[in-house]
Amino acid sequence: APWLEFFEKFPRAELHCHLLGTISRETFMDLVRESEAPVTEEEVNEFFTRGEKPVGVLRIFRALEEHILKKPEMLRRITVEHMASAREHGVRYIEFFWNWTGLKRHFSYEAGQRAIIEGLREGEARYGIVGRLIPSIDREASPEDALELVNEMLAHPADETIGLGIDYRETNHEPENFWKAFLLARAAGLHITLHAGEFGEHWRNVETAMDLLGAERIDHGYTITDNPALMRHARDENVIFAVVPTNSYYLRTFTDEEWAIRHPIRAMKRAGLRIFPNSDDPTMHHVNNAESWRIMFEFLGFSLEEIREMLVNSIDAAWVDEETKIRWS
Ligand code: HPA
Ligand code: ZN
Repeated sequence: APWLEFFEKFPRAELHCHLLGTISRETFMDLVRESEAPVTEEEVNEFFTRGEKPVGVLRIFRALEEHILKKPEMLRRITVEHMASAREHGVRYIEFFWNWTGLKRHFSYEAGQRAIIEGLREGEARYGIVGRLIPSIDREASPEDALELVNEMLAHPADETIGLGIDYRETNHEPENFWKAFLLARAAGLHITLHAGEFGEHWRNVETAMDLLGAERIDHGYTITDNPALMRHARDENVIFAVVPTNSYYLRTFTDEEWAIRHPIRAMKRAGLRIFPNSDDPTMHHVNNAESWRIMFEFLGFSLEEIREMLVNSIDAAWVDEETKIRWS
């Protein structure tokens, strides 16, 4: 595919990617065996064919947390493998979300962080791709769990750990419940991003993320299109949206023809918001970073000039020093 090759050639940043959403089917199978998890080969195959739906992905994440990812070493392996794969598709800099709350039954924050950082350093040495970490609040867990996560981050600081995020199911789990965790992280100088406004009636979560919790970036953010005044505000505040063209909700809700025309990403760009595409859960969405850029061009109809603006956005949005940016941009 010529356009895919074209997009693979750009040195790019991937800033919205969940570590658990990068596991290959083969590694998943190995880890199931290694942990003697009560998950069958058929179930794994089903995960990887039905994973387009968000509930599907989140269910897989829960199985991983509960039954499979019992050793920090497994996180190191997943990290290195995705560093290799991302680099192959042109990614030079990547920020990974990782959730510790669901894994704390198996190991400490410190042990998990250490294993992932080992993976980042190995990936950089072997493939020349730079990686950073964003521990992420599990919004289906409690505000106390979120505070515990931030306290662990502050007790075990690392150069690679640069910010705080929040993910998992948005409905009925409002971001303001976690205000103390975000306040503490901001006071410690950490960057802030939130998954907000993924679908449903949730534009207010985007407002809360920006105006109350100090988000510099928003992951998804599509429902902001229901509120033009809020879009103008986001534009004035220079917030950058790490969007996902393959977001499963819209793939599932629209037909192919509708999707290309009605995808909220188009309305966001039209309103002057700063956006750029990401892969989110690449192996589970059957996408890679280069494909997410190609989809913006070939299916969502953005021009090469608009794509160029998005490249600038992705570089500006990266939470890394200028020297490192120059190395990969
Ligand atoms: N939304 C919320 N939580 C997630 C996602 C997502 O798209 N991917 C992985 N965890
Ligand atoms: Zn996400």
